[in-house]
Amino acid sequence: MYFRSCGYMDIATDPARASVLDRLGSLADETRTRILLLLEGSEFTVSELCQVVQLPQSTVSRHLRILSRDGWLAVRSEGTSRHYRLSASLDAAARSLWTAVREELSATPAAREDRLRSKSVLEARAERSRAFFSTEAGRWDSLRRELFGGRADLQLLPGLLEGTERVGDLGCGTGQLARLLAPFAGELVAVDRSPQMLDLARERLRGQAGVRVEQGDLEALPLKDGSLDVAILSLVLHYVVDPARALAEVHRTLRPGGRILILDMQRHQRARFREEMGHVWLGFTPAELEGWLEDAGFEAIRLVDLPPDPEAAGPLLFSLRGRSRKGPSTMHPTAVNGSGQPDLERRGTDDADSN
Ligand SMILES: C[S@@+](CC[C@H](N)C(=O)[O-])C[C@H]1O[C@@H](n2cnc3c(N)ncnc32)[C@H](O)[C@@H]1O
Repeated sequence: MYFRSCGYMDIATDPARASVLDRLGSLADETRTRILLLLEGSEFTVSELCQVVQLPQSTVSRHLRILSRDGWLAVRSEGTSRHYRLSASLDAAARSLWTAVREELSATPAAREDRLRSKSVLEARAERSRAFFSTEAGRWDSLRRELFGGRADLQLLPGLLEGTERVGDLGCGTGQLARLLAPFAGELVAVDRSPQMLDLARERLRGQAGVRVEQGDLEALPLKDGSLDVAILSLVLHYVVDPARALAEVHRTLRPGGRILILDMQRHQRARFREEMGHVWLGFTPAELEGWLEDAGFEAIRLVDLPPDPEAAGPLLFSLRGRSRKGPSTMHPTAVNGSGQPDLERRGTDDADSN
């Protein structure tokens, strides 16, 4: 019978055999109890157990087979290795049997020596990873990319969502970001004005629970008032003819206290982007963003200039977040918060025009 927990399988070839008497029989051997004492504390492979108990592989394997047969062990396979540990799902009779035997045997000299040897086996394992990073530190970034792709760290961050949020990916394009966020959100609506981009987004988001794809314009969103907790504008604001109007529209769709997140370009001078890609704005300055966001009804605005990515050929980016106030504001251009400081805070480099 196999019982799966956290990648382990409990093994007993025949559950009817694993009676208390069988289990008593399998414990009636000093080596097997030494092995169980070890496997209670950590998992070990056969060859690690051989090192600790100082017995040949055939002997250790035979004892593991008996312990497995009588339901004492769980095993986890990793490549060609099998990692054993004491089963976490022993029944009450087996557990009390084991408790009694362990109390008797854990203070013996053999058990003490096993504990010390097992420590050095575990230290050798840790040493292998320490040694790897001590020589490969400089190569880690490229190895990470090679093994896990360029978006691995991004994959971690959606876990910051509570799982209940109603998220709008506004200007969703082909739905890359929506695909990343959807499993972590309560609901997600992906909006874009381009039917071609939406076709690809629908394809990518097919089968994702709680996801809706809608055609619509940022300046007149097909969403109800207060229907979002989080609104995301990723690389879209520079396409919008009237950003002030679009941001007011985003504010309408957010509940009070809801979040706006914007990723876009810092002000740059690549005028050819207008012809080549239809950009309307050559990035943005903090001051213009501040004015629009304040007027639209946002507060607690924080803008961070992102560090250059050596693999990216485009202009530098910023990341901005703000919180929706109740009702639109009329304060413009520089609103001042309770501390007497402008609400917009810009962090990072301030050299956008050189891009
Ligand atoms: C550069 S893509 C970015 C897509 C996606 N957000 C991303 O980060 O990869 C810009 C997207 O915004 C959409 N878009 C541009 N102006 C828009 C508007 N006024 N309303 C809605 N979508 C718009 C375009 O159709 C395009 O799919």
